[in-house]
Amino acid sequence: MDAKEYLAKTSKELDAPVRRYIKDELPSDLIAAARQYPYAGGKRMRPAMAVAAAGAVGGDKSKAVPLAVAVEYIHNFTLVHDDFMDGDEKRRGMTAIHIAYNVPTAILAGDALFAKAFQIIADLDIPAERMRLVLQYVSQAVWDLARGQQMDVNNEGRIVTEEEYIETIRLKTSVLFAAAAAGGAIAGGADDATVKALHSYAMALGLGFQIYDDYLGVAGDPSKTGKSVGNDIRKGKCTVMVTHAVNSIKDPKVLAELKSILGDQKASEEQVFRVRRILEDAGSIAYGRKLAEKKVKEAISFLDVLPPSEEKDFMVALARYAIDREV
Ligand code: IPE
Ligand code: IPE
Ligand code: MG
Ligand code: MG
Repeated sequence: MDAKEYLAKTSKELDAPVRRYIKDELPSDLIAAARQYPYAGGKRMRPAMAVAAAGAVGGDKSKAVPLAVAVEYIHNFTLVHDDFMDGDEKRRGMTAIHIAYNVPTAILAGDALFAKAFQIIADLDIPAERMRLVLQYVSQAVWDLARGQQMDVNNEGRIVTEEEYIETIRLKTSVLFAAAAAGGAIAGGADDATVKALHSYAMALGLGFQIYDDYLGVAGDPSKTGKSVGNDIRKGKCTVMVTHAVNSIKDPKVLAELKSILGDQKASEEQVFRVRRILEDAGSIAYGRKLAEKKVKEAISFLDVLPPSEEKDFMVALARYAIDREV
């Protein structure tokens, strides 16, 4: 199973549903801003996961499509706000909304996508008590995501422990993947134990995904990721690689050099590259990769509850893809 190919196919199938819900209303600048990311499309891993989960539990995949769209809108809402918070200028190869429009429009476009997501969920064609469960998972995820994003901001300029880092990414990243998987399974009619297993799968996958994403943030190719590279370093974001490096570098000069570049808003590309080098030499990149692999292995093990299917194969492949991608 080639996750990238399957993902591309699913993403294409989601194009029409993603475009279905935002009508031509006024003011047109708000509507255009709200449409920009969802219409452009990223990898669409979360909605693909929701649809696959419904199929993997033996359900009708089409029942999960509105939920998939809702989760993608929520993801896009968080990206619009995240880029402003992180001071990033590029997303999906485009100018970030707070720059392409302005900050008030970015705040409102995010809010509007957030609202639309719940409107779509309210229209799901599933029994009322299942709908209540979906709403609980999704609303809890957005609440937790806000907590994680605040931790991420609070962590800037600090060296956090590995535990603090994991808790931050569990909240800012994993919970939405988990709501997608659990919600998809619920829409597909899964029993509670299966829903819980798929939730755990996505929680672990999300950790591996974000650890790897932090690696791409230092060593990725911006022409591929469509995002700025090096800004985590300039902002002094403490990734698990940085924590590992600070705790294992013995040479005080190298340690001082690393600490002096971290958090330096004006750090040059050479300095960012130097940090990458320091992390590599300290074995911190390899450490991050190992940890991400461990999380992904754990994620895949939760899928044991599922009978064989194409969708299950995709979910396995998606977990591996989360930590083996250029985008
Ligand atoms: C980016 O998520 C935000 C993170 C949680 C790191 P994705 O890498 O899934 O972004 P898109 O949707 O493909 O653009
Ligand atoms: C994004 O995290 C997580 C959310 C939007 C909740 P990051 O800030 O680490 O991801 P990128 O690098 O901007 O995509
Ligand atoms: Mg960011
Ligand atoms: Mg961020």
